[in-house]
Order: sequence, then C-alpha cells, then structure tokens
Amino acid sequence: MTRPRLLDLIKPEVLNLTAYRAEETRPDLIKLDANESPFPLSEELRQALRDALDRVDVHRYPDAKADQLRAVLAARLQTAPEALVLGNGSDELIQLLLLATSAPGETVVAPAPTFSMYELIAKAQGLRFDGVPLGPRFEPDLPALIEAIERLRPKIIFLATPNNPTGGTFSEADIVKIMGVAPGLVVVDEAYGPYAGRTMLPHLVDQERLIILGSLSKIGLAGLRIGYLVAHPTLAVEVEKVRLPFNLNSFSQTAAVVLLNRHERIDANIREVVRERERLMDRLSAIPGVETFPSAANFILFRTMRSGDQVFDAVLGQGVLVRNLGSVPGLQNCLRVTVGTRAENDRFVEVLTKALR
Ligand SMILES: Cc1ncc(COP(=O)(O)O)c(C=O)c1O
Repeated sequence: MTRPRLLDLIKPEVLNLTAYRAEETRPDLIKLDANESPFPLSEELRQALRDALDRVDVHRYPDAKADQLRAVLAARLQTAPEALVLGNGSDELIQLLLLATSAPGETVVAPAPTFSMYELIAKAQGLRFDGVPLGPRFEPDLPALIEAIERLRPKIIFLATPNNPTGGTFSEADIVKIMGVAPGLVVVDEAYGPYAGRTMLPHLVDQERLIILGSLSKIGLAGLRIGYLVAHPTLAVEVEKVRLPFNLNSFSQTAAVVLLNRHERIDANIREVVRERERLMDRLSAIPGVETFPSAANFILFRTMRSGDQVFDAVLGQGVLVRNLGSVPGLQNCLRVTVGTRAENDRFVEVLTKALR
C-alpha cells in the first residue's frame, strides 16, 4: 500500500501560510509590542477576582451560552443579548464568521496593511484575500476600495477602525458608503474602538449587513481571551451554529463578569491611555528622523529614517520591546509602539532618541 507523505496530508492552502508570530518576551523588558493595556489590576480587584474564582465549579462544563457575561456585555453595548456571539478572543469570531459564510474560492477584501489574521484565516479556509492599499500616509482610499468591491464582489469586507497596525480610522460616512456598495457583509472591527471613542453600533438598527467585532483584550483583559460579535439576530443565530459549545472557559466568564461590573477602573484607564497617546505622539513627532502616523488607537505607528531593524535592535538592547513591522509590504522601516504608562513612554522616547542619534 502506498501512502502519501506526511506533508501531503496538509492542505496546500495551509502549507503556504506563515504562522502568526507573537514576539517572545522576557519579564525584564518594557513590553510595548502587543497593544495591551499597561495597567495591572488593583489589589482590590484582584481580591474580588480571587473570591469569585474560588466559587467556580471546575468539575462542571462552563455555561455554554455564557448567559451572565452575555447580559453584562449586552448592557455595556446597549444591544440585545441575542445579537451577540461570544468568542475566545475576537480572533475566533473572525474564523467562525468566515466558516459560517464563505465557501472556498469566495473573496474577502480589506484595506492593506491591516490585521494579519483576516488574510491568514481566509486563506486557511481556501478563500481568496485581496488587500486594497491605503493611501501614502495610510489614510483610507475610498475610491480604490469601492472600485475593488465592485470588481471583486467580496462576500466579506473587513474594516478595522482604528486600523491595526496603522492607527487610522474610517469615518462613519465612509463606512456607510462602503455598506451602500457591498454585495455581502461588512465587518467593522472595533477592537480599538474604545480608544477612538466611536462605534458603529447604532447603525446595526438599519444596516442588516453590518457586523461589529469587539474585544476585551485591548482594554485591560487580554489574558481572559474574550471577544464579541454584534450582528442582526438572524445572522447571529447562524454564526452560533459553528461555535463550539464551550469556547469560553468558566474562569474567563466569571472574571469578565466581575471586572465588567466594576468597569470604572477600565474606563479610567482607557482615558489615561488616550491622554498618554497624545503626549507620546507629540514627543515622537519631535524626534528628528521619525515620521509618525495619526492614531486613534492605543498604539502609534512610526517610520524611522535609519534602518528599522537596527532601531528595533537598539531599542530592544535598552530593554524596550516594540513591534517591528519592516517585513510587512508597505511598512519598510516602520515600528509600532503600544502606549504604555507615563514612565514607560518616557523611557521609550529616551531610548529611541538615543538609537537614532
Ligand atoms: C484589529 C484587531 N482585531 C482583532 C484582534 C484580535 O484580538 P483578540 O483575539 O485578542 O480579541 C486584534 C488583535 O491584535 C486586532 O488588532
């Protein structure tokens, strides 16, 4: 009996992919690479968490529908609980959405550069992915996007706003225009929405093709892995069919309910990061040899006149980890720094200035 070689058992679409790579980190580094919140939980919140986690029944499966968390999120988002699908991070929801909607050969469109998982997940499922270049300063290029939508007739369009890794936004008017020409679904990914102080949620009422993605990762709860999708309940029911029943574990559900019920701290931290973003933007823009790009998120993309790889290494050598994006098409010599605490940002500016001297 002849049998295929081991790698012949893997789909060609998958063989051609490069795995998502998270930066390796060390406890002694100032970690400004992953768009996390820099603020740990207060001792009071840690105690509240300990008390709640102590009551979790680990010998039972989690609540399959995460009803308590669903209710708390629905109240926060002012939406109906049945309009929500909850995911193990919003990453998982991107995967579920494509699984529920798109057949091999169908097309996914997004501006480029953008969050790399749209392309990776689409291609892994045998879909086509077309990135439509943003403008020279990474501003939206609406005519190009509309032309591509009319030509390619994508099943799904992903619009991250603010966009990762560029930080820019699509205006509400632009998104409405895109929804006007889209033959399929328009997914507005608001993972960084809280830092922009804007949401397309109110448009769900009259736009049944609109789907909003959100995440708790960027507002201080990255370790819990909780994302959500808000859609017309008719669509939400269909996406629910491909969700694995126990995708959110009991500890994460419990912790998120406790922390969202005490959201004042989360909201205050968001405001602090926005203040720091403006301060960091001013300081970065004043460094000779640095070109910054506008950001409404909790990170800033910038280009260095010197080799981005060398600057990345020099900054890392001084104990600060940022994201090196130089290998992404269109982002030569570009680095992305997450907004940290005031002290972390000051240290970063100091080592970057030194690296560029
Ligand atoms: C635009 C965007 N969407 C979604 C995600 C996924 O976030 P999570 O899976 O942690 O919810 C990220 C993470 O970097 C992102 O940048």
